[in-house]
Amino acid sequence: MIAIYPGSFDPVTNGHLDLIARGAMIFDKLIVAVAHNLEKDPLFEVKERIELLEAVTFDWKNVEVDVFDGLLMEYANTKNARVVVRGIRAVSDYEYELQMAMMNRHIEPQVETVFMLPAQQYSYLSSRLVKELARLGGSVKDLVPPIVAERLRAKVGKEDA
Ligand code: PNS
Repeated sequence: MIAIYPGSFDPVTNGHLDLIARGAMIFDKLIVAVAHNLEKDPLFEVKERIELLEAVTFDWKNVEVDVFDGLLMEYANTKNARVVVRGIRAVSDYEYELQMAMMNRHIEPQVETVFMLPAQQYSYLSSRLVKELARLGGSVKDLVPPIVAERLRAKVGKEDA
């Protein structure tokens, strides 16, 4: 069964990777799909986000990285995917995720949204906070893969990020 793990991935964090690992164990193929043109002011270009995702998922042979535009459900149909994977960290994620899953079901009832829980140590982690931490000169070492920490450092120009 083919599943899609969609998101902004600006940038990919260890929390995303944890979910990718779990998804890759369950599904025959997991397509990590970067949403194009969503955030008005992303830190990383889509091309860079894809490059980073490809680098950090290299070892999983059933994980593919792609980009999509427009409706997720239309994209899922073009990929013959019947599952969308989304991570839920805390209860606060649930409301937004529920709305999105229900809207997606309205658009395409054939596609199921599957919610997965990341490892507990990543339950507070988000790309937004990682970016803020890096901008303010904090260490992101344990929060993102080394190649992402390096790129963040280069972007925000802080020595110890
Ligand atoms: O990582 P994010 O920013 O929480 O991911 C959100 C994403 C990309 C999964 C969501 O915004 C999305 O699916 N966008 C595509 C547009 C779409 O299909 N909208 C209708 C469903 S509500």
